[in-house]
Amino acid sequence: KKIKIKVPATVANLVCGFDILGMAVHEPYDEMEISISENPEIIIRHTDHYGLPEEASKNVAGVVLLKIQEELDLKHGFEVIIHKNIKPGSGLGSSAASAAGAAFGANILLGDRLSKEEIVHFAMFGEELASGVRHADNIAPCIYGGIALVKSSDPIDIIPLQSPDLFVAAVHPQVEVKTSDARQILKKSILLKDAVKQWGNIAGLVAGIEKNDHALIGRSLNDVIIEPVRSILIPKFDEIKTKSLQLGALGGGISGSGPSVFMLAEQEETAQHIAKMMKEVYDKIEIDSFVYVSKIN
Ligand code: HSE
Repeated sequence: KKIKIKVPATVANLVCGFDILGMAVHEPYDEMEISISENPEIIIRHTDHYGLPEEASKNVAGVVLLKIQEELDLKHGFEVIIHKNIKPGSGLGSSAASAAGAAFGANILLGDRLSKEEIVHFAMFGEELASGVRHADNIAPCIYGGIALVKSSDPIDIIPLQSPDLFVAAVHPQVEVKTSDARQILKKSILLKDAVKQWGNIAGLVAGIEKNDHALIGRSLNDVIIEPVRSILIPKFDEIKTKSLQLGALGGGISGSGPSVFMLAEQEETAQHIAKMMKEVYDKIEIDSFVYVSKIN
């Protein structure tokens, strides 16, 4: 038996919700073909040339399947073919897509015996391999769809939220920002006054999402803790943000740990204008970039 699944890109953090909020988008997405093999081996193949490791223990999909095999005491293996469209290192949840896709796909092949929380549990081993941290803010929306709140990752407690009717413009500039480095530079402690501002924003954002209140979403997309530190890693971040707001974006910021930057807009046309502007900003300083206009998935 062989299945083929589409696995969406995800925007983690949603600006103020560091490690606890994430959103799946329609574009880009990976495709994965997964089958059960008679022998116990886990075989991973990529059809692209990103140079990702294929040895199961070094591959994010591979470690997830090894863990499933071990914990469920399976005698058979899996074969996975990954068509990767979400660029590794983009900050658009490329590793999460492979990890979540592997766990989700294996579950279907095993007769749908795992709960969504268990699928998240297994997929987090892939994120751990990729970034050293078992965060679930890309994995959860990838598996649940739309926007997900990771109330807790240990124990796993995921709250799926509404999907507001919004468009997403995103740019992936070709600069390298490793998640591990982007986490390393963060302050280990924060001021209470900043925490108060941040949880006001997170609560406002979640309320805005649930009520489909676009203005509330817009004024809650502020981050006083992570963005001021990380944005220095992303060339032209301030210019892109300022110009996006001028073009009518509700708000936005760094996608996950970067380098991609995303903006939310009410109209597709506005998102298209923002995407065009994003590309022009990077063209001007001769940094290649990819832009995406999408909907919340
Ligand atoms: N929440 C994580 C971070 C996402 O910001 O480090 C990484 O993709």
